[in-house]
Amino acid sequence: WVVYAPYVKAINELKKERNAAILAHNYMTPDIYHGISDVVGDSLQLAIEATKVEADVIVQAGVHFMAETSKILNPSKTVLMPDMEAGCSLASSITAEGIAEMRAKYPGAPVVTYVNTTAEVKAASDICCTSSNAAQIVAAMDSDTVIMTPDQYLAQNVAKQVPQKNVVWWEGSCIVHERYTAQDLREFREWNPGTRIIAHPECPPDVVNEADFSGSTSGIISYVEKERPEKAMLVTECSMASNISDALPDVDFVGPCNMCPFMKKITLEKVLYSLHTMSTPVEVDPEVAEGARLAVQRMIDVSR
Ligand code: 13P
Ligand code: SF4
Repeated sequence: WVVYAPYVKAINELKKERNAAILAHNYMTPDIYHGISDVVGDSLQLAIEATKVEADVIVQAGVHFMAETSKILNPSKTVLMPDMEAGCSLASSITAEGIAEMRAKYPGAPVVTYVNTTAEVKAASDICCTSSNAAQIVAAMDSDTVIMTPDQYLAQNVAKQVPQKNVVWWEGSCIVHERYTAQDLREFREWNPGTRIIAHPECPPDVVNEADFSGSTSGIISYVEKERPEKAMLVTECSMASNISDALPDVDFVGPCNMCPFMKKITLEKVLYSLHTMSTPVEVDPEVAEGARLAVQRMIDVSR
């Protein structure tokens, strides 16, 4: 903390000078999550909060698609990305042509697209979803067949929750969550009896099957805060446990975790540089932005 403190102080001062708000995803490291953020949350919460920001500048402490979503929902603001290389394996797995391919394969079926995508892909879709509302959105579609892109595992997990729909999917995946296996979880439970296993729905379905609970990053945090298990294994990104462990001293966070190399590109140094130089502003073509905004807004309206 001694090392981080000068950065935290400088960022918080500069934030006031620039009239900026920092929106941070739950996968940010604790120095960012606790030290400099104005809002923390999962993808849905950050999207909703972006619409309410009154400050002139939004600094997105997260990955590029999140910054695009903030810009789309609140276009008069300057939205800064501290590192433009902070991408996402899901977002880079599909283009608007991929959406057209799925529409040609399943004529008339609505396209439900995960927010972990570019603005072009959102604009080519009917509606967006996040991990916290995917089942609700799919269930609300007025069609037996529903196309889900681009996360094959989220789609397969949703298909089980919404058996009345024929869910078909694109073959993308998250490099953080696809690495967990059901066998690893079974072995871990055998060696560590009594551990509550909590998995993100971007994990393969057999992994989610082994878990006691599955939910979005904020869903996972709420579950642990409410249940207070003696031992908890969070089958998701490593910073999740680090961010909540101090406030939950009675919970022992155990087990391995996986790091997201994209989320970890955002550091205090880069946030400070970003605010200092006002770089790099995220821009979205107005026509694309309008299409994407409609898809995201439909999601927000359905999940209210
Ligand atoms: P949520 O925070 O919406 O659960 O998403 C997790 C994620 O991987 C974001 O990139
Ligand atoms: Fe993308 Fe997975 Fe990283 Fe989230 S954790 S940003 S889904 S690669």
